[in-house]
Amino acid sequence: MSDSYLIKGGKQLKGEVILSGAKNVALKTIIAALMFKGDVILKNIPRINDVLDLVELVKSLGAKAEFKEKNTLVVNGGTLKNNRVDLVSGSKIRVSFMLFAPLLHRFGECFVPNPGGCRIGARPIDRIIKGLIALGIKVDYDPETGYYHAKMIAKPKGSYRFEKPSHTGTELLMMIGLMTDEKVEIENVANEPEIDDLILYLNSSGASIVEENNKIIVGKSKELKQKEDFTIMSDRNELVTYATLAVASQGDVTISPIDERLIFSFLEIMKEAGAGVEEISNFKYRFFYQGVLKPVDIETSPHPGFMTDWQPSWAILMLKANGSSIIHERVFENRFSYVEELKKLGANIEFVNTEVENPSSFYHFNHDKNKTYQQTIKIIGPSELHNAILNISDLRAGAALACGVLLATGESVVNGASILERGYEDFAEKIRKLGGEIKKV
Ligand code: EPU
Repeated sequence: MSDSYLIKGGKQLKGEVILSGAKNVALKTIIAALMFKGDVILKNIPRINDVLDLVELVKSLGAKAEFKEKNTLVVNGGTLKNNRVDLVSGSKIRVSFMLFAPLLHRFGECFVPNPGGCRIGARPIDRIIKGLIALGIKVDYDPETGYYHAKMIAKPKGSYRFEKPSHTGTELLMMIGLMTDEKVEIENVANEPEIDDLILYLNSSGASIVEENNKIIVGKSKELKQKEDFTIMSDRNELVTYATLAVASQGDVTISPIDERLIFSFLEIMKEAGAGVEEISNFKYRFFYQGVLKPVDIETSPHPGFMTDWQPSWAILMLKANGSSIIHERVFENRFSYVEELKKLGANIEFVNTEVENPSSFYHFNHDKNKTYQQTIKIIGPSELHNAILNISDLRAGAALACGVLLATGESVVNGASILERGYEDFAEKIRKLGGEIKKV
C-alpha cells in the first residue's frame, strides 16, 4: 500500500481551502451515538483514518455505522452485542477508552484495553479512571491482559474534580453522566470548543447538560433520540496547518468555514508575527504573506490559549521568520518528534532548557521531578530548506513535516502518510488545489 508522499517543494501556495469536520468532535459524536435510540445521522464527518478505524471498531462490537454519503455517517447502537473491545482494534485508536460509556449503558459491564493512539508522551488515563470510580463505577485493571474491567453497580451520581483538566476525560465523564437518575457534577473541566459541540449534540437529543464556571452538571436525561441531523463543527487544527503553510510559502489562501471564536488566539499571534490576516466575510478568512515575518514566542495551553495541536505548524511558520523564537509545550510531554526530522531539511532548531517555578502545576501532564523533559525549542530563522527523506511518527508532527518539505527546494519523500491522514482529510488533494506538487506513492 502506498504510504508516502513525494513532494516537490518551493511553490507559493494560493487558492482556497474548505475545511473538513473536526476530528475531535467526529470521534466523540460517533461513540455517544451508540447510547441513542434509533438511527443517528452525523454530517460533516471527515473521512480520515481515525474515523475509519473507529467505524470498524464500532462495527466489530455489533453496532451499525455506515457512510451514506462522503461525509454523512449513520450510526445505530441498537444492535451492540459485544462488551469487550478487541485489543488490536482498540490499540489503533486512543479514544477507544471512551467506549466505556456506551458499553456500560448497554451492558452494565465492559472490558476496554488501555488506549493506544498518538505517540505523544506517556498519555495516561489515570485521572479519567479516578473520575469513573468517583461516580460509582467499579473499575479493575488487569496488568496481565492490559484490560480495564468496568461494572456499573448503581446508576452514576456524585461529583468529581479533575486535578488538572482533561479534554477527553471531561467528555467521557459527561457521557457517563447521561446515565444518572440524579445528578453528576464534573469540576475543573476542560473548556475546548469541541466539548461545546458535543454538548450541543447531546442536549438537542434529550440530554440535560449545563456548563457553568469551569463545571459541568449533567442532570437526568430523557431517552436520547435524535430530532434532526447533526452537523459537526469545522476542524480548527486543519485551518492552522493551511494558514501557517500559506504564509510561510509567501502565498495567499482563503479558508472557510470557521467561527472566529475557535481561532482568535491563533489570529492574534499571526498578526503579531506580521502575517496578513483578513476576515473576508463571516466564517471566511484570508491568510497571506505581506512582508518579513517577525519571530513570536509561544507557550501552549488549553483553550482559550494557543493550542498544543497548533505548535508544530507554528514551528513551520517560525522557520521563515527573521530571528529566533521559542515554543514552550505545556500540555503534552514529548511533542517535538518533528524537530530531528526538520533538521534533515536544514532547519535550524535546538532544544533549550527551561526552568519553571512549579513544574507540576505549570505542566498539564503528570510531571515527575526525577525525569528529564524536553519541553522547549528555539527556532532560528530564517532557514533555507532543502530536500530530504522524512519519517512521520505522530499526527500533528506529520503535518509539520509535509509542510516543511512543501517549503523546501527539490524533491522530498515523506514516509508515514497514513499517520497524517488519521487527522487530515484529502490532504494531498487540498495541497494540489493550492498549487503544491504532491503525490501519494
Ligand atoms: N493526562 C493525564 N492523565 C489523564 C488525562 C490526561 O496525565 O487521565 C494528561 C495528558 O497526557 C496530557 C494532559 O493531561 O499531557 C492533557 O490531556 P487531555 O486529556 O486534555 O488530552 P486528550 O483528551 O488526550 C485531546 C485531543 C488532543 C488535544 C488535547 C488538548 C482528542 C481525541 N484528542 O486529547 O488532540 O491535543 O485534547 O486539547 O480529542 C490531536 O488531534 O492531534 C490531538 C492530540
